[in-house]
Amino acid sequence: MAQLTAWVNGRFLPLEQATVHIEDRGFQFADGVYEVIACFGGTFLELDAHLDRLERSCHAIRLQLPLTREQLRQRILDTYQRNPFDDAMLYIQVTRGRAARAHLVTDHLTPTIVITARHLPMPSPAQIAQGITAITLADIRWKHCEIKSIALLASVLGKQQAAEQHADEAFWRDSDGHILEGCATNCFALINGTLVTHPLDHQVLGGITRNLLLSLARAHQIPVEERPWQLSESGLSECMISSTTKAVMPVCRIDGQPVGDGKPGPVARDLRRWMLEQFHTMRHTGDSRA
Ligand SMILES: Cc1ncc(COP(=O)(O)O)c(C=O)c1O
Repeated sequence: MAQLTAWVNGRFLPLEQATVHIEDRGFQFADGVYEVIACFGGTFLELDAHLDRLERSCHAIRLQLPLTREQLRQRILDTYQRNPFDDAMLYIQVTRGRAARAHLVTDHLTPTIVITARHLPMPSPAQIAQGITAITLADIRWKHCEIKSIALLASVLGKQQAAEQHADEAFWRDSDGHILEGCATNCFALINGTLVTHPLDHQVLGGITRNLLLSLARAHQIPVEERPWQLSESGLSECMISSTTKAVMPVCRIDGQPVGDGKPGPVARDLRRWMLEQFHTMRHTGDSRA
């Protein structure tokens, strides 16, 4: 695609010219929320679930979206039409808008809305064959991780620390050593044959792919438990992560130690295959729930 086109506050612009004001509250205060949505062959994965979550995030930070759901859906589709990658990721960011810098908002502001579409990168064949690696870090984030906030400094630093230790992801752990989630992923362990993941609360984002993964597991008779879990639990044989951009990926080394036998386990491999089959069906039939 020669030139990417972004939607900025009601206008389509070449990406190079797509700018917002320096007094936008997103820039000044990270006062906003976002979504990342995958699209396969023109079919969006769980678009309504993403729009539900965006509305929940906006509500949680008391930001009133200036577009109806249908208007927003249409802008997302229009942005995709102008950047029609076979596998695409759509990014939607909403901030409280532009105002002279002050914490308190006294005037009625018009929210800033930006939508971009890019090629959705896939994990490399080596990562798929060998699985990915992670480190664990004490959770330094705020206490509302269920909101998909654009304030991602802790995650930026966590990812950076992971990269410096030659790992792909950092997992946040609470003060009791429970694994909460990754910097940009939800985390799962297979413990005595049960797929375990932290329950939805203020310490984790309700990942759309997390939901998809749990549904796939249940549909294939893999028992699922949403409870706090630790890496030291006996019977832990596999770990994996989920996210819109990674689908499902096995995690084979954590803090330098192998998980199970240090290779992608059969359950992570099956779950990844089933999820990719679903994406494949979407590409060919246009059915996002196939
Ligand atoms: C902290 C965090 N957890 C989980 C996820 C995965 O969410 P989803 O599956 O909706 O992409 C993300 C995605 O960005 C994230 O930032």
